[in-house]
Amino acid sequence: MHVTVLLQEAVAALVVKPGGIYVDGTFGRGGHSRLILSRLNEAGRLIAFDKDPDAISAGEAIKDPRFCIKHGSFLQMPSMLRAMAVSRIDGVLLDLGVSSPQLEEASRGFSFRFTGPLDMRMDTSQGLTAAEWLASVTETDLARVIRDYGEERFARQIARKIVEERMRQPIVTTSALAEIVASVVRSREHQRENKQHPATRTFQAIRVHLNRELEELSLTLPQCPDLLNLGGRLVAISFHSLEDRMVKRFMRTAADADVLPRGLPLREKEVRRLSRQKLKLIGRAVRPEKQEIIINARARSAVMRVAERISTGED
Ligand SMILES: C[S@@+](CC[C@H](N)C(=O)[O-])C[C@H]1O[C@@H](n2cnc3c(N)ncnc32)[C@H](O)[C@@H]1O
Repeated sequence: MHVTVLLQEAVAALVVKPGGIYVDGTFGRGGHSRLILSRLNEAGRLIAFDKDPDAISAGEAIKDPRFCIKHGSFLQMPSMLRAMAVSRIDGVLLDLGVSSPQLEEASRGFSFRFTGPLDMRMDTSQGLTAAEWLASVTETDLARVIRDYGEERFARQIARKIVEERMRQPIVTTSALAEIVASVVRSREHQRENKQHPATRTFQAIRVHLNRELEELSLTLPQCPDLLNLGGRLVAISFHSLEDRMVKRFMRTAADADVLPRGLPLREKEVRRLSRQKLKLIGRAVRPEKQEIIINARARSAVMRVAERISTGED
């Protein structure tokens, strides 16, 4: 089971045209997709993507002529849409990160809470598993990943310990990795400051790196404005600060008319064309209500941001 975060809020922000074409870039178990479908009329269409073969199987169970699902990264959205002869869409939703079935299925190896093989791939049909990567990565690269994607201040010490331990025996289970990390991070200072499991940041970092999460997001966001019809919406839900920072910066820059000197005698339309402003921000960042967090703890770190495609004067 995956309990969808910001379900009503995201779909309300996204579906502004019942007859429009929408993309759910992160199908998961289809919580958002099903509600989007319920808001569309017979002319509407929904195209979903996910990297995870299990998500694809779940999506294929939806028998609705207005819906289809593609196996792949949302990074491939422009080429996949072209292949389907879809030139513009009316909205795209990115509900980032991992789903509950990924986290809670021990065999997927995403979580230190369950003992399982150290896999962590969203797309189990390709790429290195976490165990394979940990067996070959250099200590310097490992420390960089843990520091940059986990914002972990003990990154260097954790990387050194992992490299030491893998010489004794390969690190192939979630619990082995969690214990190694905990043996470094389990300082009194850490416990006083932080109620998180000591391996939380390291697991997040390795997962983000292996699945190229930030890289794919940073390459996908700039492609969205040109895919959207005027009035079309980009809705992104992030679950950690690095992701949210990227979404926030992208939307602010794409919505920024301030790249031109102030006071030029230009009409609004001309400012947009010259500044290449393609989006406008819709509202502020939205966070789940307390009630939602009580029911679904995963919602506590969610932040949703919305932007709308506007005319650049050249459309
Ligand atoms: C938070 S879940 C989405 C849950 C979904 N909104 C629901 O209501 O069921 C994130 C999903 O996005 C997928 N995913 C993450 N990054 C992706 C990417 N770059 N391309 C395609 N799918 C991705 C994951 O495999 C996971 O199934």
